[in-house]
Amino acid sequence: MPKIKVALIGVGNCAASFIQGIQYYSKPNASQLGLRNPVLAGYTPKDIEIVAAFDIDSRKVGLDLSEAIFAKPNNAPKVCDVPNLGVKVAKGPLLDGVGESTQALIEISKVSDVNVAETLIASQAEIAINLLPSGASDAARFYALQSIAAGCAFINATPNFIASDPVLSQQFKDANLPLAGDDLVDQIGSTALHKTLLKLLSDSGVHINETYQLDVGGGTESIDTMERTRDTKRNIKTEAVAAALTYKTEIVAGSTDYVDFLQNKRDSYFWISGTYFCNTPLKIDLKFQMVDAPNAGSVLFDVVRAIKIARDKSQKGAVNAVCAYGFKHPPKRLAIEETEAEFAKFVA
Ligand SMILES: NC(=O)c1ccc[n+]([C@@H]2O[C@H](COP(=O)([O-])OP(=O)(O)OC[C@H]3O[C@@H](n4cnc5c(N)ncnc54)[C@H](O)[C@@H]3O)[C@@H](O)[C@H]2O)c1
Repeated sequence: MPKIKVALIGVGNCAASFIQGIQYYSKPNASQLGLRNPVLAGYTPKDIEIVAAFDIDSRKVGLDLSEAIFAKPNNAPKVCDVPNLGVKVAKGPLLDGVGESTQALIEISKVSDVNVAETLIASQAEIAINLLPSGASDAARFYALQSIAAGCAFINATPNFIASDPVLSQQFKDANLPLAGDDLVDQIGSTALHKTLLKLLSDSGVHINETYQLDVGGGTESIDTMERTRDTKRNIKTEAVAAALTYKTEIVAGSTDYVDFLQNKRDSYFWISGTYFCNTPLKIDLKFQMVDAPNAGSVLFDVVRAIKIARDKSQKGAVNAVCAYGFKHPPKRLAIEETEAEFAKFVA
């Protein structure tokens, strides 16, 4: 298969797990356990090649990606060594990349900014993945427009509205480029678990009266989610969870707090209160523990390969089947069971 040439915007924890994942699953005779789709339309993770990367932290800019992914403040677990990739992290424009709450953790590089579109063109990147902090909404728009200028498809893993912004989506359409977003779904995330539990209960005739799902995490992103994007995240998650029920009820999902010693781990707390036969009460009180960054890897592998297919099929603008499968805030939401079927149909 031809290589899928990818540029990474932001070399944080997600990027660290994604790049290690490519190494991990590309070793000869590597077990493919942990992947939802070891092969997708003929492509394996080994076919993904990182050709460019942008960041603003002085501990990452100028380094080869193989070293930059292990630089502070990244704290995603190291699962394998990564050989020199021959890709130096370029200094992108800062814009709103660092918020008040995260500035103590980030060391801003004094190196001059590169021209992002020119760097993308020179690297021959076909797809750019936005892995900026969730609060970097101006930067997300900037990189989306630079990707259009460079003829790159765009994947927006952040909760900023790019694919679900009709104006930006139209700009990708006009440029004959596919687009996917917004806010990547985890491989096994708290939103999916919450939706599945509610659907299971509701399909069994239980009436849900109240439910919440709250997170505690230790990655830099948890600080941003706590302050700059608290409301956006809460709205996206609550809306996604509410779509699992056919009636309105009290739902809160997505508020986060930061506990530094958790490192890249995330604890998700679920509370569900409902009633079943003859108004009998039922309660579920659950804690789910996982590590954040590796949870994005498998879905990113799928979405990258699907967007490569979209490029090859000359699809333009937001690709609904991919957005609904891989993102919490797609431009068009599908029912859980339709999501899988539409994605399978698309990649077939
Ligand atoms: N499981 C997951 O981790 C998951 C799931 C869904 C969505 N996401 C989203 O993915 C994004 C990345 O998450 P993360 O944990 O890797 O975050 P992170 O904070 O670890 O990484 C962000 C990186 O962006 C860099 N950056 C900041 N401003 C920049 C700029 N202007 N130009 C270039 N680089 C810049 C930072 O220095 C940092 O290296 C977040 O928006 C998050 O919401 C992650």
